[in-house]
Amino acid sequence: MSTTEHAQGAATEPVFAVRNLWKVFGPKAERIPGDARLGELSAAELTARTGCTAAVRDVSFDVHPGEVFVVMGLSGSGKSTLVRCLTRLIEPTSGTLHIDGEDVRAMDKSRLRELRRHRAAMVFQHFGLLPHRTVLDNIAYGLEIQGMGKVERRARAEEMLAKVGLDRLGDRRPGQLSGGQQQRVGLARALATDPEVLLFDEPFSALDPLIRRDMQDEVVRLHREEGRTMVFITHDLSEALRLGDRIALMRDGGVVQLGTPEEIVAAPADDYVRDFVRDVPREQVITLRRAMRPAVGDEAITGAVLPPSTRVVDAIEAVARTGEHVRVGEDGNVLGVVCHSRLLSVVAGLDSGHGGEPRGEKAGAI
Ligand SMILES: Nc1ncnc2c1ncn2[C@@H]1O[C@H](COP(=O)(O)OP(=O)(O)OP(=O)(O)O)[C@@H](O)[C@H]1O
Ligand SMILES: [Mg+2]
Repeated sequence: MSTTEHAQGAATEPVFAVRNLWKVFGPKAERIPGDARLGELSAAELTARTGCTAAVRDVSFDVHPGEVFVVMGLSGSGKSTLVRCLTRLIEPTSGTLHIDGEDVRAMDKSRLRELRRHRAAMVFQHFGLLPHRTVLDNIAYGLEIQGMGKVERRARAEEMLAKVGLDRLGDRRPGQLSGGQQQRVGLARALATDPEVLLFDEPFSALDPLIRRDMQDEVVRLHREEGRTMVFITHDLSEALRLGDRIALMRDGGVVQLGTPEEIVAAPADDYVRDFVRDVPREQVITLRRAMRPAVGDEAITGAVLPPSTRVVDAIEAVARTGEHVRVGEDGNVLGVVCHSRLLSVVAGLDSGHGGEPRGEKAGAI
């Protein structure tokens, strides 16, 4: 999945723009965000002192069009609260929140309804299907609420059913499906209204690992084929690394690091994040752009060439095969090189490399 265009995507207006968002549960919640001294307390101290829980604490981020934005963190870190605040299923305590430039906190009831029905669809962990309706009617439900006619909505629901690979199961009830199939119905139902953004709250955590993998592939495919914007909550690091263009890592209501999977694995912001990513196979995530070093002597002239987006694991294969260094090239320029020791130090976590821009005189034409 491409990350650079999203990470840099300042030119386009964000789908969601969130600034200094707080959600505090408890008595007189609204005094907490404005009070610098209370705001500095740890989660436990805040609860002891005020009886309040700051489920979301001064959080700011943008979600860019076409991006899979993952919110990750341990249980209780505030993920669900944060995502529910985006469509005001939970009312934020303070901060600003825009969708396509429109102020969500200023929306009246009917505008909010429109937002939830047409623009942002939610997929939940426990599917939320209606047990007495057929699969097809479940998928068509959102369209029915929108006022679409029966023939049209059934046709649309059939189309969505095929899209998630359940063509022949439209007449069953949800109880007659496996967990994985039910979640596919949940996904089809969310897609039926053709929302601008899909919000997933741990949709696959109840599924067994193989089916889970299948559903992740489905999300990757939807993203690739339709370029749909998604906000995806998970507490599973490998799922986050697999799906996310960027990951916001939450702890006690705050975002401790926001970055690409590679940034989070290669340059953890603090010990908490470092601990979180400790067991990740670094060579699967880190790319040559970060692992390379400047070319020395005639290294820039000989050797195989790989693009900077190549993962270290794939470069290891090339270096092992040829026994020589590999050049990292882009647009006809050599940005740097990687050799055995460089690649091994990435695997060992000794040096995540500096990568970045080609360094003046060391960069040359291929
Ligand atoms: N309605 C509520 N009233 C009081 N506290 C709440 C309420 N909802 C959530 N909280 C608290 O806010 C914090 C964040 O909860 P949240 O559900 O957002 O966490 P989460 O990261 O989604 O966790 P999980 O992975 O278990 O789903 C928790 O401490 C939780 O107990
Ligand atoms: Mg949750």
